[in-house]
Amino acid sequence: MRLLRSLLSSCSLGKHVDYYSRFSPSPLSMKQFLDFGSENACERTSFVFLRQELPVRLANIMKEINLLPDNLLKTPSVRLVQSWYMRSFDEILDFKDKNADDDRVIYDFTDAVIKIRNRHNDVVPTMAQGVVEYKELHGIDPVTSQNVQYFLDRFYMSRISIRMLLNQHTLLFGGTVRANPAHPKQIGSIDPHCRVTEVVQDAYESAKRLCDLYYMNSPELMLEECNAKEKGRPVTVVYVPSHLYHMIFELFKNAMRATMELYGDALNYPPIHVKVALGSEDLTIKVKDRGGGVALRKIDRLFTYTYSTAPLPHTDTARGAPLAGYGYGLPISRLYARYFQGDLKLYSLEGYGTDAVVYIRALSTESIERLPVYNKSAWRHYNTTHDNDDWCTPKTEPKGVTF
Ligand SMILES: Nc1ncnc2c1ncn2[C@@H]1O[C@H](COP(=O)(O)OP(=O)(O)O)[C@@H](O)[C@H]1O
Ligand SMILES: [Mg+2]
Repeated sequence: MRLLRSLLSSCSLGKHVDYYSRFSPSPLSMKQFLDFGSENACERTSFVFLRQELPVRLANIMKEINLLPDNLLKTPSVRLVQSWYMRSFDEILDFKDKNADDDRVIYDFTDAVIKIRNRHNDVVPTMAQGVVEYKELHGIDPVTSQNVQYFLDRFYMSRISIRMLLNQHTLLFGGTVRANPAHPKQIGSIDPHCRVTEVVQDAYESAKRLCDLYYMNSPELMLEECNAKEKGRPVTVVYVPSHLYHMIFELFKNAMRATMELYGDALNYPPIHVKVALGSEDLTIKVKDRGGGVALRKIDRLFTYTYSTAPLPHTDTARGAPLAGYGYGLPISRLYARYFQGDLKLYSLEGYGTDAVVYIRALSTESIERLPVYNKSAWRHYNTTHDNDDWCTPKTEPKGVTF
């Protein structure tokens, strides 16, 4: 009887997922996020928006999970992730027809949002584990590998966006005080006057601590800023400092590891140069190292999930966080940059060093969420057979031709 009931409810839940997946997610701009959190912020408005938008974003990505290869869907880790999504979707749906003028409803919703956020804390490593399990059992061909990369980029991006919504709601309405106690000037997780060099400095210090632990030493930081908009003033931007920190911290760890590996036991290491520049469209942060660089042929590969040239770190290490090894640093950092219409690129001079560049939109009206949508063209991506390349593959000996 219980089985039948749960079967029936999961069937009707499936119908709701179908229904909500037909809506496209609504991307918000940084400015809209700020307006939502300003003086006249209203928990009720946020509730009414989220009870529609969260199921839409969840359903869009849940439909896409279903397009993964069967054997990947069958791994315990992916099943676990799917069950979290189902449950959270169901919990939000509970509020569909509830009275938005009832304070109790609004209060319960904020509670549910906190619960959902915590439930999804481990989505990234769990999904990664699913891919590892799948690879070990079934091996992976290039087409599947490409599809999995395509999926992970969209899946993790969707997660970043959903967490942004959940975080804004709980930070703005979750406590008794409006202001974020750790950062009173922030509006939820957004700092309207984020001082970029301060975040860079923080990220450097944390990476340096790790680097000192592993290599007993670390390269210095040379930091410069150029504000073309207001000469002589520090560069600030409307942004989520934790996102910025995440990206720059990853870039520092990479730059430090490359430098330390190349210079071995030398007493002096070439410093890491960071340049922050603000123009009218872009805010650019360049992290430049002299760690020997990477060949052009390999650059794209560095952005694939799990690609790393460092040994896989032990999870029970007494040293705490590892400096490298999971191969998630670059691809996830690029997602953070792209989430608000920026980007992250690597330019390398093999034999010399690497410039890692983060681009951020300087104007808050242009920083608009970049969200995946489940539609025909996404579907096609998973179901197209990739034909041969339409460029010749170079052969060492041209056959039967003499020039
Ligand atoms: N600044 C750099 N110089 C040289 N190689 C780099 C640099 N940044 C990244 N790489 C290469 O890219 C790989 C992937 O980087 P990342 O995604 O951060 O994963 P991880 O640091 O865990 O290996 C690294 O293992 C390294 O081989
Ligand atoms: Mg790294």
